[in-house]
Amino acid sequence: MSQRILILGATSVVAAEVAKIYGEQGAQLYLIGRNVDKLAALVQTLGDAVGGFEACDLNELEQNAGRIERAHAALGGFDIVLMAHGYLGDQLRSEEDAEYALKILTTNLSSAVSLLIPIVNRLEKQGAGHLGVITSVAGERGRPRNYTYGAAKGGLTRYLQGLRSRLHSSGVHILNIKLGPTDTPMTIGHEKNGLFGEKSQVAKGIVRALEGRKHVVYLKGIWNPIMAIVRFLPEAIFQRFDFLSGR
Ligand SMILES: NC(=O)c1ccc[n+]([C@@H]2O[C@H](COP(=O)([O-])OP(=O)(O)OC[C@H]3O[C@@H](n4cnc5c(N)ncnc54)[C@H](OP(=O)(O)O)[C@@H]3O)[C@@H](O)[C@H]2O)c1
Repeated sequence: MSQRILILGATSVVAAEVAKIYGEQGAQLYLIGRNVDKLAALVQTLGDAVGGFEACDLNELEQNAGRIERAHAALGGFDIVLMAHGYLGDQLRSEEDAEYALKILTTNLSSAVSLLIPIVNRLEKQGAGHLGVITSVAGERGRPRNYTYGAAKGGLTRYLQGLRSRLHSSGVHILNIKLGPTDTPMTIGHEKNGLFGEKSQVAKGIVRALEGRKHVVYLKGIWNPIMAIVRFLPEAIFQRFDFLSGR
C-alpha cells in the first residue's frame, strides 16, 4: 500500500521538495497550503500523487481540527505528517507592534499546537506513524536578530519534546527538524553564505531523518556543532561577540 502523507504548509519551498520526493516514491499526498496559486501549481506538478488538498490560512485556529479530520478521512489514516508552515516576520516591527508580534507567535506556535493536538491523537490511536515538524536553529537561544520568531520555534521545540516523551512507547515517531538558514522565499534579501542550506538537499535530509526515526536533526548538519556552542556559551561571553549576539 502506498504511504499516506499529510503536508501542512505545503507551498513552502522546502515542503514542496519533500512532496516531490514522496510523489516519485508512489505516496498519496494530502496538501494543505495558503497560497492558492502556488498550491494549484504544486497539485498539478504532483498529478496522481495528490489524494486531496485544501487552501487555507492556518492562523484560523478554530478551523484546524476540521482540516485534520478532512485530511484523515481523505487518506484513510496518516503514515507521515510533515508540518512546514512558518513566518519569520520583521523582528524590529515585532518590538514595536504587539499585534504583529502575536501574529509571528500564532503562526509558529499556536497554529502548530492547534494542528498537533488532532494529528497526534490520531497517530496515537493508530499506534504508528511519523510526524516531522520544522522548527529552527533560531529557537535555540534568544538573540536580538530574531527572538520573537525564535521564542515561538523554541516553544514548539519544547512542545515536541513533551510529545515525544508522552508517546515514547506508542509506536509514533516524532522528529524535530531544526532548520538553519536556507535559500527560500523566507530568506529573500538575506546575505547568503556557505552555511545556507539548499532546498533539495534539505528535503532529502528530512526524508532520511523520518526514515531513520531520528528525534532531532539539524539541517545542514554543520549546525549541530555550531548550536552546541551557541546553546552552552555563558551569557557574559556570548554578549562579547557581535556575530552571535548582535542584530
Ligand atoms: N528558510 C529558512 O532560512 C528557514 C530557517 C529555519 C526554519 N525555517 C522554517 O522552515 C519552514 C519552511 O519554510 P521555507 O524556508 O520553505 O520558506 P517558505 O517557502 O517561505 O515557506 C513558508 C511557508 O509557510 C506558509 N505560511 C505562513 N503562514 C501561514 C499561515 N498562516 N497559514 C498557512 N501557511 C502559512 C507560507 O505560505 P504562503 O505560500 O501562502 O506564503 C509558506 O508556504 C518554516 O517553518 C520556517 O519557519 C526556515
